[in-house]
Amino acid sequence: MEYRIALLKGDGIGPEITDSAVQVLEQTADRFGHRFVFTPYLIGGAAIDAVGEPLPDETVQGCLNSDSVLLGAVGGPKWDGLPGDQRPEKALLGIRAALGLYTNLRPAKLFPALKGASPLRDDLTAQGFDILIVRELTGGIYFGDRGYREGKYGEEAFDTECYSVMEIERIGKAAFEAAMPRNRRLVSVDKANVLETSRLWRSTMHRLAADYPEVQYSDLFVDNAAMQLVRDPRQFDVIVTSNMFGDILSDEASQLTGSIGMLASASLGDTTRGLYEPIHGSAPDIAGKDLANPVAAILSGAMMLRYAFGLSAEADAIEQAVDTVLERGCRTADLVGDSGIRPLSCTEMTAEVVRCIASQ
Ligand code: IPM
Ligand code: MG
Repeated sequence: MEYRIALLKGDGIGPEITDSAVQVLEQTADRFGHRFVFTPYLIGGAAIDAVGEPLPDETVQGCLNSDSVLLGAVGGPKWDGLPGDQRPEKALLGIRAALGLYTNLRPAKLFPALKGASPLRDDLTAQGFDILIVRELTGGIYFGDRGYREGKYGEEAFDTECYSVMEIERIGKAAFEAAMPRNRRLVSVDKANVLETSRLWRSTMHRLAADYPEVQYSDLFVDNAAMQLVRDPRQFDVIVTSNMFGDILSDEASQLTGSIGMLASASLGDTTRGLYEPIHGSAPDIAGKDLANPVAAILSGAMMLRYAFGLSAEADAIEQAVDTVLERGCRTADLVGDSGIRPLSCTEMTAEVVRCIASQ
């Protein structure tokens, strides 16, 4: 079968890691007899430099006309001085909204080979952990009214958080559904002791919970959730939370797996066309040096095969190959710490995964 994939490489390490994901996907296509057709489109700082805006119409149209979208990362110091609505990050929010991708799945799973790379104590990593963070992606404070105004103390800036019952219900349903084939435990994270949006979030989640008696449901305040994650991540199965809390907790959870360079994500809406991207940023400090960890991008490719195309054997093959190369001791610089292991470059790590898929 042929699948059309829009490729948004973006900035910093974005081009390197998406190239890695493409190589791995092509090897997988070869092995399983598929054809993936990649069409690159501009996004972020690269788009600002080329055509003067972070999210050109052509990019949005190209994504809408594709079966799926694979994205690297956007942003960098070069564009940091631009006004908020012209920054590269605005393109990321724009494409998520334009494609209606309100559900962001961020799996934080500890690969057995990486136990030593986790900052947690050995007794906490011994049995591993496997958490799925379900982050609301097209609402909340990321998309609320913002601006500047004259306030009590002179000039002030403001951002607002707004959530409708509809938005909470649809992300809540996605989270309960995601919990069903897993361990059926769902924790909803909010700040209902302070925020009105969180109180609506909580009451709406409670109503939904009644429809899913098989799922063991509970609530946590976000500060407690951040603490519980490092205290013992094994207590979590699925976490559902708002856009900003999910942004923060997923970075925290990623480090528990050894490195933020390991975490993939799938952004989904009501169609099968999703957007797949690592949760990490563009890492301008290591861009162009062949030092980046390509695993998050590679695993994002695997999630794309699973969720967008229903190719689970192919997705398993990629995940298995990552597991195997890690077991063999392959590590990029972010994963070696002070172990004395010689780190592999992004190119070398990618080649290991590709070779592994070819020989599986
Ligand atoms: C992420 C990133 C983005 C976000 C930034 C780059 C806008 O941190 O995908 O987690 O906050 O959503
Ligand atoms: Mg983030």
